[in-house]
Amino acid sequence: MKRILVTYATLAGSTVEVARAVGEEITRSGLQVDVLPLSEVKGIEAYDGVIVGAPMIMGWHRAALRFLRNNRSAFQRIPLAVFVMAMSLTQTGETSVDGVPLTVDENLPKPPETEGRLNFRERYANLSHYVRPILAATRPVKPVTIGVFGGRLEYGRLPWWAVLFAMLIIQAQAGDRRNWTAIRSWAAGLAAAFHLEALQTDALTQVERLAI
Ligand SMILES: Cc1cc2nc3c(=O)[nH]c(=O)nc-3n(C[C@H](O)[C@H](O)[C@H](O)COP(=O)(O)O)c2cc1C
Repeated sequence: MKRILVTYATLAGSTVEVARAVGEEITRSGLQVDVLPLSEVKGIEAYDGVIVGAPMIMGWHRAALRFLRNNRSAFQRIPLAVFVMAMSLTQTGETSVDGVPLTVDENLPKPPETEGRLNFRERYANLSHYVRPILAATRPVKPVTIGVFGGRLEYGRLPWWAVLFAMLIIQAQAGDRRNWTAIRSWAAGLAAAFHLEALQTDALTQVERLAI
């Protein structure tokens, strides 16, 4: 059976549940899935596809970027998908960056305050600003898809410096903005994006034939 790894980084814990939901959806496609924090991943060679998920924490989570860089050569053989959790995103209508298709939670992006002119926060919270470091970390390989979803921000769970950054720079309101429908629907398409669904269907057809 084909094996998929869903691995994640987190600061305050909410990405763990997202990784689990992604894993559940992939399991429905008939694939075997391991959901692990990045720190517990020993190697990725045994996997037929890898999904790396992490929140924006003043840039995409450093540990996740490091993981992509360290496994860059393995990703030439193993298909990769990425998901990004965020609380602030400027509406630009981009559907891809450098040819990589993006799936963006429709509840997340906000239009710029002044049409045609982005302020500092809006430039900071731009899709390409978020995604380009991810693409630089995997180059020359490109993820087959990147999902960008609303996350969860609870000031009570955070150290003071994190609260300050979230309030001043990204100006995000506290709350749980995880859109499970959007997350699960993106995840449900991953087996096909990895070209593993067809193999599963072939395998099923063979089993059906044997059963006749
Ligand atoms: C210190 C800090 C920095 C953050 N930076 C960003 C950011 O640059 N852009 C953004 O959209 N969200 C940002 N967020 C929001 C997080 O990405 C969001 O809350 C995420 O869901 C947290 O995931 P976690 O609970 O797994 O740590 C930041 C949150 C914190 C605490």
